[in-house]
Amino acid sequence: MNVAERTRIVTRPRRLRTSAAMRALVRETQINPDGLVQPLFVVEGEGVVQPIGSMPGVSRYSVDAVVRECRGLDAVGVRAVLLFGIPDAAQKDAYATINYDPSGIVQRAARAIKDALPAMLVIADLCNCEYTDHGHCGILDASGDVDNDATLDVLAKTALSYARAGVDIVAPSDMMDGRVAAIRHALDDEGFTKIAIMSYAAKYASAFYGPFREAAESTPSFGDRRTYQMDPPNVREALKEVRLDIEEGADVVMVKPAMAYLDVVRAVREMTDLPVAVYHVSGEYAMLKAAAERGWIDEDRAVDETLTAMARAGADVIITYFAKDYLTRHR
Ligand code: PBG
Repeated sequence: MNVAERTRIVTRPRRLRTSAAMRALVRETQINPDGLVQPLFVVEGEGVVQPIGSMPGVSRYSVDAVVRECRGLDAVGVRAVLLFGIPDAAQKDAYATINYDPSGIVQRAARAIKDALPAMLVIADLCNCEYTDHGHCGILDASGDVDNDATLDVLAKTALSYARAGVDIVAPSDMMDGRVAAIRHALDDEGFTKIAIMSYAAKYASAFYGPFREAAESTPSFGDRRTYQMDPPNVREALKEVRLDIEEGADVVMVKPAMAYLDVVRAVREMTDLPVAVYHVSGEYAMLKAAAERGWIDEDRAVDETLTAMARAGADVIITYFAKDYLTRHR
């Protein structure tokens, strides 16, 4: 009698792993391809496609080029994009005035994309750090602190300006208190009741935004973002932030970053019926790319595994720089 006979194994989970079809039959988690969102960086100029050094495969596009890129995204099945505007340095000031200019970069990009591809869902990141000369996400008070309530005014004006340009969703990422209510009221007062708000509800002060700040030229010129973005060890606080945003009228709530915060995604999933989004951020993208470039991991498998983990944690919407790549491979 050998060991297996002596112990009499009856239940054999391996039976359900014997073939690709068997594994597919019992697969518990699917990534919703329609829930993938591709972030895009838009710059001034024409015919500009500028690769970002720390994000291989990701570029900054001028308005004409971003429309071309969106046609390519549409062709592989990307249904939603998240726009980040990067104005010229000379356009920035202490009050982010260019952010709510009707001819601002996001406004022009949104109009051009909607003209070319009316069915493409256009989400606009709503923040001030790319538009202020000091690089903070809000307006500063006399002592150099970010002034919460003064910032709400700029966010509300900017949300309206984006709505007039035709965006479908505004996504405030500044982490000011009360911004969702301020934006919702401003939109509703002007009749934009159909514009949705996807709030970066639990956004942490993370080291993983490093490559983004290179791409968006939004590194603060002094200090850091720890007085407005969340402290990484906290999860109850994330639920509080999410609850407030829901009370204020958020339509979709987001957790950001992703990989190091999947427990937060799960906790948020369990506390609300709203769609939950997760942002797989620039540093997470860069890590996967860097390891794959060295041949240390298999990129495609690692990407699929990573995005699957986000879906398994409970995310409905996954914002990732890999969206185009993933959909190209899984068409
Ligand atoms: C703007 C904003 C940031 C990101 C999204 N919106 C940067 C930051 O908070 O410093 C990060 C996205 C990424 O790293 O991919 N506030």
